[in-house]
Amino acid sequence: MTPIHPSLAPLARAAKHKDWAGLGDALREALLAPAWLRPEHRVGDPTAYMRHLLYVDPGGDFVITAITWLPGQKSAVHGHQVWCMYGVAEGELTEEQFGAELKATKMSLHVAGDVADSDLECTRVHRVSNRGRAPLVSLHLYGVGAEQLTTGINRPYAHQKA
Ligand SMILES: [Fe+2]
Repeated sequence: MTPIHPSLAPLARAAKHKDWAGLGDALREALLAPAWLRPEHRVGDPTAYMRHLLYVDPGGDFVITAITWLPGQKSAVHGHQVWCMYGVAEGELTEEQFGAELKATKMSLHVAGDVADSDLECTRVHRVSNRGRAPLVSLHLYGVGAEQLTTGINRPYAHQKA
């Protein structure tokens, strides 16, 4: 893993200390002036949204990842196994939140610089999509170690019911 980009260092510091307010501020800064964003982060995968791993905490406490969503791409409806916080660097992001029985409870449109609702308690059920015409690049922090990156973040909704 390459060293952290300087524009992401404040996020890593705040995440390491679980300083949620500080992390929200650092995230907003990193979204408003995304010096970390490279041209390849705008190139998506036509088959599904694409994660670009930007930083892995050496202690396994969290990762920082960009996600590229081409127009029309969306996540499944899901919860989280670990804390997460995210926002938009480029494009437009639609987030739908769901309550009991998958009843829609909230829908938000986020643009560049916006920090979306975080899920620190792993209680949120949501779906993220790009309903715009341009690629969407979002920036996410997840409280997961790199080796759990593919299976340890999202929790399919069907598995949530105890
Ligand atoms: Fe999510």
